[in-house]
Amino acid sequence: MRYITIALSKGRLTELSISLLEGAGIDCSELKESSRKLILTDEKNRIRFFLAKPADVPVYVEYGAADIGIVGKDTLLEEGRDLYEVLNLGFAKCRMCVAGPKELEGKMDSIAITRVATKYPEIARTYFRHKRRESVEIIKLSGSVELAPLVGLSEVIVDLVETGRTLKENGLVVLDTIADISARMVVNRVSMKMENQRIRKLIDAIRGQLERAPPLSLRGKWQSMRLFRWLCPPRNDI
Ligand code: PRP
Repeated sequence: MRYITIALSKGRLTELSISLLEGAGIDCSELKESSRKLILTDEKNRIRFFLAKPADVPVYVEYGAADIGIVGKDTLLEEGRDLYEVLNLGFAKCRMCVAGPKELEGKMDSIAITRVATKYPEIARTYFRHKRRESVEIIKLSGSVELAPLVGLSEVIVDLVETGRTLKENGLVVLDTIADISARMVVNRVSMKMENQRIRKLIDAIRGQLERAPPLSLRGKWQSMRLFRWLCPPRNDI
């Protein structure tokens, strides 16, 4: 039986993705060990995993290097890859928004926006071109996007808003919501046909796990797992 390969996003999504897979009966013990190994396996279920930069996950899945991926909807919208989005995993919830200074609130339709700063140029371009039919210059930044309107780099930004705290502390407000974002499970189109039974079984197990334990309650499970690892570090941590 061939391995089913799962690409997981490195960073914010990693912990809850692992908890979710574990809850669905997948052995993630190799994944949880701190090691330099790039590909980790659950031999019993013939599943292998790797961690990749979030933006690379849809690439691995589209090309079939991974059958399945767990990645944020923001990355899916930005990358625009040809994949099946099979499950909304419901965690890492936030919104993709247009934000700017308070003075622009309610004035989006009457002012001319010339520059937009963002980590998500494709999402911003599509929004301004198709939804607002405006021609704007998109300026790609790598982080701390909220800085742009404060220092005069752009009038507005397109960025993720989770609690709204970063905007608030910098005197910015949401001017429009582009999309609701959360973690999603995606599947390669060919794998979905060739390994249909095994992939469907996995999707059902994860869906069942989501119904039994809402994503946030998985956090406690992960924290106790981290405490365990701290108390009993794997050999290669010593
Ligand atoms: C993200 C996002 C916002 C912030 C929103 O940034 O780009 O800046 O979180 O969160 P909040 O609404 O809860 O304040 P991240 O922390 O990834 O850092 P970055 O700005 O360096 O990309």
